[in-house]
Amino acid sequence: MKVIVVENYQQIGQLGAQIIAGVIKNNPNAVLGLATGTSPIGIYQNLVEMCQKGEISFANVKTVNLDEYVGLDGTHPQSYRYFMNDNLFNHVDIDKANTFVPNGVAENLQEECTRYTTLVNNSVQDIQLLGIGSNGHIAFNEPGTPFESTTHMVNLTENTIKDNSRLFDDISQVPTKALTMGIANIMNAKHILIVANGKNKAQAVYNMVKGQVNTTCPASVLQNHPDVTVIVDKDAASLL
Ligand code: F6R
Repeated sequence: MKVIVVENYQQIGQLGAQIIAGVIKNNPNAVLGLATGTSPIGIYQNLVEMCQKGEISFANVKTVNLDEYVGLDGTHPQSYRYFMNDNLFNHVDIDKANTFVPNGVAENLQEECTRYTTLVNNSVQDIQLLGIGSNGHIAFNEPGTPFESTTHMVNLTENTIKDNSRLFDDISQVPTKALTMGIANIMNAKHILIVANGKNKAQAVYNMVKGQVNTTCPASVLQNHPDVTVIVDKDAASLL
């Protein structure tokens, strides 16, 4: 694992975007694995700026997102599809038909999980961007999730519901289930870029980088991946 400690959130955004832009420049048909949440927003802002200046193009890029809440369709402002349109896709030259997010309102959620795993197996991520939960989750793979898991439906933990409630009017509105790429789908990516900021991520970052590799901290599995870059600010790195 290559760990890069930067000053602040702004620098995570700049450096993270440079890395992803490098992947696109190297391969204009790249498959990007993308994440939602607060951590990657700065990266998306920088990528939008680079695209608008003509430095990169998403015209032939394909994207696969990690996860989606069950029960929210893409028009719901808290859905991850809406988030991706709002923070990235609406502002760059990407063909939305080449952007994929699990369908949280599919009639048969089990079939949707199988379909999504086939999709990511056929479109292997050249780079997978990740955030980390304060309990060490990656995507919605909560502690205890087997490392060989593929796309599946999860019951969100109280901890994650609480963390995510900041984006909803009321905690009772946070969905309790989600569809998520599994850990095996994430580990299949050619390169992994994981970013974290803030003191509340420090323990999870420590467990990911220096802890034992086991399912108690799902992100610790990344120690087994041959090509991982971790970008953290000083606060998130404070226990390393
Ligand atoms: C988002 C995702 C989650 C977040 C994690 C950190 O698609 O899969 O695992 O990356 O919960 O969220 P933030 O960045 O909001 O702290």
